[in-house]
Amino acid sequence: MIIARTIAQLQEAKRGFEGSIGFVPTMGAFHEGHLSLMREARRCSDKVVVSLFVNPTQFGAGEDLDAYPRDLEGDLAKSRAAGAHLAWVPETADLYPPGYQTRVEVTELSRPLCGVSRPVHFSAVATVVTKLFHVVEPDVAVFGEKDFQQLQVVRRLVQDLDFDIEILPGPTVREPDGLAMSSRNSYLSPEEREQAVCLVEGVRLAKRLYNEGERSCGRLRQEVSSLISGYPLARTEYVELVDSRSLARVETADDHTLLALAVRVGSTRLIDNTILADRDSP
Ligand code: PAF
Repeated sequence: MIIARTIAQLQEAKRGFEGSIGFVPTMGAFHEGHLSLMREARRCSDKVVVSLFVNPTQFGAGEDLDAYPRDLEGDLAKSRAAGAHLAWVPETADLYPPGYQTRVEVTELSRPLCGVSRPVHFSAVATVVTKLFHVVEPDVAVFGEKDFQQLQVVRRLVQDLDFDIEILPGPTVREPDGLAMSSRNSYLSPEEREQAVCLVEGVRLAKRLYNEGERSCGRLRQEVSSLISGYPLARTEYVELVDSRSLARVETADDHTLLALAVRVGSTRLIDNTILADRDSP
């Protein structure tokens, strides 16, 4: 696996590649979820490029930029084992040189859900993803469904900005008790880790009620919120039922309805989601 630091090194390495490029943009701190995205990229392209960049602009004031887990050596070993051909580890100054001032904004999809408490987050993600796409020029890029709103923002920007890139979703990978894998799970104390299952329990409850015929989003929201309120270390930020394509709130659930939730467990903010009608049980 080639390791590139600068844009020039990445472009030089790419010149030696033949065939299609599959791209997995990441912020490092790899867990099985990231590795499954790399394997998916490998399955559908000839060469796999992974970027590792903790993008400072997508962290709001008071968020966990400094604490965000970093393990470059471990990450490089894991991505090599997962079949990546090129790891790009840019410096902040390479992506945002002095005088940088351009921003990409996917307006409507960025506003609800996580956009309410993180108003600059998705614009920063859209901007950095646009830059990464321009440099890597992939044929395919893989994004995890755990960050469902991010996936929809990226799909929209690819369409709106005429990128010739196929966006593939990677299913959420879960711990044995169902907790969605996240680099931020490492912040949880043992007690918080136990209570973090409240998110997947909420997902399971909503799916079960939907499968039993419940269609009132008010009732589904109330049931999930009340389940989470039974966990003393958990504080709900939102429990929302939205159309999975527009992310607009819905009152009557159907097969396109997405349950999305954000919960603080202790001081760690965790998210999860599901399309209620999907048969897979987390
Ligand atoms: O999902 C992530 O890890 C980040 O938001 C991304 C897409 C790499 C952009 O910084």
